[in-house]
This record gives sequence, structure tokens and C-alpha cells, in this order.
Amino acid sequence: MSLNQSRKKVAVLISGRGSNMVSLLEAAKAEDFPAQIVCVGSNRPDAAGLQRARDAGIATFSLDHKRYGKDREAFERELHEELEAAGAELVVLAGFMRLLTPWFVNRWHNRLINIHPALLPAFPGLDTHARALEAGVKLHGATVHFVTAEMDVGPIIAQGSVAVRDDDDAQTLGARVLQVEHQIYPQALRLIASGAYKIDGMRVLASGS
Ligand code: GRF
Repeated sequence: MSLNQSRKKVAVLISGRGSNMVSLLEAAKAEDFPAQIVCVGSNRPDAAGLQRARDAGIATFSLDHKRYGKDREAFERELHEELEAAGAELVVLAGFMRLLTPWFVNRWHNRLINIHPALLPAFPGLDTHARALEAGVKLHGATVHFVTAEMDVGPIIAQGSVAVRDDDDAQTLGARVLQVEHQIYPQALRLIASGAYKIDGMRVLASGS
């Protein structure tokens, strides 16, 4: 079997600039990386990351969620079809700012991962950096986790932390967290795509290769 045939096929979903997506594309250039990015999709046709993906020679698609009104499942059924058509085996959310319904999450059970800019279970939801500062935490960071029906809850694959500085504001803190995201997301994808792990409740345990 050639290397490309044995690599897990991964779709990345974005809504914005796509810096995490770029870190995954960079990592996937390594010969021994167990995943290949087969497509990048967005719910926002104007997402800057789509052009970055195209520049890297990756197939892209966009499905404007506004076209579906309140019918989240209609949007998700089309999303699901795009992912299947691309042959995706794993779906990676990288700044994808759409809540996914249980319908979609169940279809991609244990094959759908997300990065969240906080040390879960602290600070689920939005505005994590401002909330971390307000709460006075001394350590902050990012979490890669499997997606479950409940938002920002799911077995934790990887975390990385940064020390909070006295002179931080949400922007400076967020910038350092983003650097950590770019390190841990490729590491987490490497583990999950390799298949050398098991899930034990909320724990994801590396099981050796
Ligand atoms: C990241 O901070 C990620 O944790 C959050 O959305 C942001 C996306 O940034 N879910 P980018 O589009 O990857 O640059």
C-alpha cells in the first residue's frame, strides 16, 4: 500500500482566517504524517482561509449557512454529502463557528475533532481570553477534543498551556494561545489519524503504535 493510501483522509472546516488549518497543512507535508488533507470547507464563502487552502492546492467548498435559514439539518445534510464526496474519514473543525446538531455529530461520532481556545473544562463558549483574564487564572491555553452533542465537551485529546502575564490583555493572551494551538493541533491529529489511542470515558489514552 502506498503512503497516500494508508493516510487517513481529513476534511478541515473553517469559518475565518484558517491559521490552524495552515498549521495542519504544513504538518501534513511530513512524509510520516498519518493524515492527508483532502478538502477544506467553510460555511462562509468569504472565509479568508479558503483562498489560503486553494493556494496550497487543496480542494475547497463553501456552503453558505444563511441560505438554509433556521433549518440547521438541511445545511448539515449538504455538508455531510460534501464530506462523503471528498472521501473524508475524519473531520477537523478549525475555527468553524457553527453549532452542529446531534444529527451531524452522531454521524461523525469519534471522527470529529475541534480546537477550543481555553483549557477545558474551564471557559467553554466564546470570549475565552477575556473571561480567563477576568477570572484571574494564571494558566490559560487550548484544548483539542472529540466533538459530542454538547458544545465544548468531549474526550480531551491534547492541551497546551501558557502563563498569563500581568500586562496581558485579551489580544496578547490570545496571540500566545494561538501559537500553542498551532503546535497541539497537528500533534493531536497525528495521534488520532494514527489510530494508536483508545477512549476511556473522557480520557484519550495513547495506546502505542
Ligand atoms: C482559534 O482560536 C480556535 O481555537 C477557535 O477559533 C480560532 C480560529 O482561528 N475555535 P484560525 O481561523 O484557525 O486562525
